[in-house]
Amino acid sequence: MADVPSVVEVRAQRASKPRVRQGTVADIPAFRALGEAVVPPTYGPIDEAYAQRMLDEWWIPEVFEKSLARNAHLVAEWDDEVVALADLGRLSQSYRQFPHVTGDREVMWKLYVHPDHHGRGIGSRLLAEVESMVEGEELWLEVVDGNDQAYDFYVARGFREVERVTDRQWPDDVWMRKTLGTRPR
Ligand SMILES: CC(C)(COP(=O)(O)OP(=O)(O)OC[C@H]1O[C@@H](n2cnc3c(N)ncnc32)[C@H](O)[C@@H]1OP(=O)(O)O)[C@@H](O)C(=O)NCCC(=O)NCCS
Repeated sequence: MADVPSVVEVRAQRASKPRVRQGTVADIPAFRALGEAVVPPTYGPIDEAYAQRMLDEWWIPEVFEKSLARNAHLVAEWDDEVVALADLGRLSQSYRQFPHVTGDREVMWKLYVHPDHHGRGIGSRLLAEVESMVEGEELWLEVVDGNDQAYDFYVARGFREVERVTDRQWPDDVWMRKTLGTRPR
């Protein structure tokens, strides 16, 4: 019976979940699997073609390799399985163009939790970790218009809508910002 964890040990294990660590290229297959699990239910109801485009153009190994080279990635593991991903980088480092923006922004490009693990505090935990990594006083992010669950999640955590970027072909991007203020370094 020596290997059976005690109630205290089990409680300690649960309290320490999820485990958060930096993402690496070794995680790319797990990122793709996460995308296949979370992108269709998130964006399919908004625009099915857009959900497919996301998977085909952005959740692919080549794009993850580029983004791992320039952005900070955090992963959350639950029972040694990657169940969530966050990605923080600078707008000026992105391969996309943002003609409406002057200056630079620190942007959380991704925050995705596997649907089986929603509501367990993983998204909040990763967001808090990302906020602690921001060098300036503001954290920005984009939400797809119609992703109301995520929009409400961010509003509840201090983000405010700043602007909408309209695209005739695809759903609009809603830009949100949170002022973090000065913190001890
Ligand atoms: C939005 C998201 C990142 C939140 O992460 P999470 O780990 O589920 O959130 P937490 O457990 O830390 O907090 C729960 C909060 O999320 C909200 N939530 C959103 N979707 C939820 C779901 N399916 N189940 C439970 N809670 C959900 C709850 O209302 C709760 O908000 P509140 O505390 O303000 O009431 C996650 O639901 C997700 O990955 N959604 C799909 C992908 C997505 O839209 N990502 C954002 C792209 S911009």
